[in-house]
Amino acid sequence: MAARYGALCRAHLRLEYLRANATTHDFLFGAIAELIDNARDAGATRLDIFTVDNDQLQGGFMLCFLDDGCGMNPREATHLIYFGKSSKRQSASKLIGCYGNGLKSGSMRLGKDFILLTKQEDTMTCVLFSQTFCEREGLDEVIVPIPSWSVSTRKPVLHDAAMFAVQMSIIFKYSPFTSEDELMQQFDAIYGKSGTLIIIYNLKLMLNGEPELDIKTHSADMLIAGLPDNLPEKWSLRAYTAVLYFDPRMKIFIQAKKVETRYLPYCFYRPRASFSERIFIAYCGNSYKMYPYFTFCFKAIAQNEIEKAKKDLKLAEQAVKEAKCQLKHLEESFLHEDNEPAHLALQDALENAKRTREKLEAKQR
Ligand SMILES: Nc1ncnc2c1ncn2[C@@H]1O[C@H](COP(=O)(O)OP(=O)(O)OP(=O)(O)O)[C@@H](O)[C@H]1O
Ligand SMILES: [Mg+2]
Repeated sequence: MAARYGALCRAHLRLEYLRANATTHDFLFGAIAELIDNARDAGATRLDIFTVDNDQLQGGFMLCFLDDGCGMNPREATHLIYFGKSSKRQSASKLIGCYGNGLKSGSMRLGKDFILLTKQEDTMTCVLFSQTFCEREGLDEVIVPIPSWSVSTRKPVLHDAAMFAVQMSIIFKYSPFTSEDELMQQFDAIYGKSGTLIIIYNLKLMLNGEPELDIKTHSADMLIAGLPDNLPEKWSLRAYTAVLYFDPRMKIFIQAKKVETRYLPYCFYRPRASFSERIFIAYCGNSYKMYPYFTFCFKAIAQNEIEKAKKDLKLAEQAVKEAKCQLKHLEESFLHEDNEPAHLALQDALENAKRTREKLEAKQR
């Protein structure tokens, strides 16, 4: 059977390995974090995690990750399917990924299949990584269709028309999208100049036949189904992502609602609970302390960071004052000069002050 797909990419691994590798994630949110880390590594400023109902698929919905990061060109998209191959390892910057494994192990822990759509410069590329396809076609080698198109012409980037046709027929049969138009609509969802949309489907089920992620109890959250633990980070994706990074840089939205990130050192130095969490903790019969891990080790770090953020805010507010004076001076000088650059400078200074104030507030939260 595999000979039929002779020209298509192979992930150079057996289906069995794919299944075994997914078991490395015992904790469901750990698997989700692999996809969040990748968006952060791609320099995304925003990541949306959301679900789309689809009764035809196992679990009844698809789990989607949409970022505005750097995206991938067709060559990079081809590389992502290989295990143990990561271009991040050579990078001097502080990226999280390095093993070339997380996307595959994380996504395959969550579902049986994923389709990834990515846009970079003038190319749009789609990668179908599907256990269902391999199982139904009796392939024990993982074969991965990776067609590409030009963004401007929406025409396929073709090296081999016959191979493109085979790839599309697999995608229409084994992905949730049954026509090229439908697939193009998914690319349209990537709103940035570049970015990536990953759709995981045929989600893993629990023994009772229900999906592991409960998306019904809270419309703006995804919960690990079953009995809640007293720490929300263990069962609420919103609470988990709020403390995922030491220095949160990327805005995360869950079901279209922004996650209010917490400043981690501060949480541990002065554990506090928000009003709704207090209700939950009180309900669980615990004390009002949010975190059992209380430490003074973070006190100096937290206070230094807050002092630095206060200084940054002072400088930003000073810049606003100067920009206002400059504009006022121009307006009063009767020189009839072009005031547009001064208006723009004031706008920039105001936006910078707003961002800086938000940073300070996040650190104080
Ligand atoms: N959202 C994304 N945006 C851009 N590129 C991505 C994205 N997700 C994955 N990639 C690319 O796919 C590659 C493979 O991802 P994967 O998570 O498997 O490995 P990694 O991040 O390099 O290492 P690790 O196993 O430590 O996570 C990445 O190195 C990156 O080039
Ligand atoms: Mg990764």
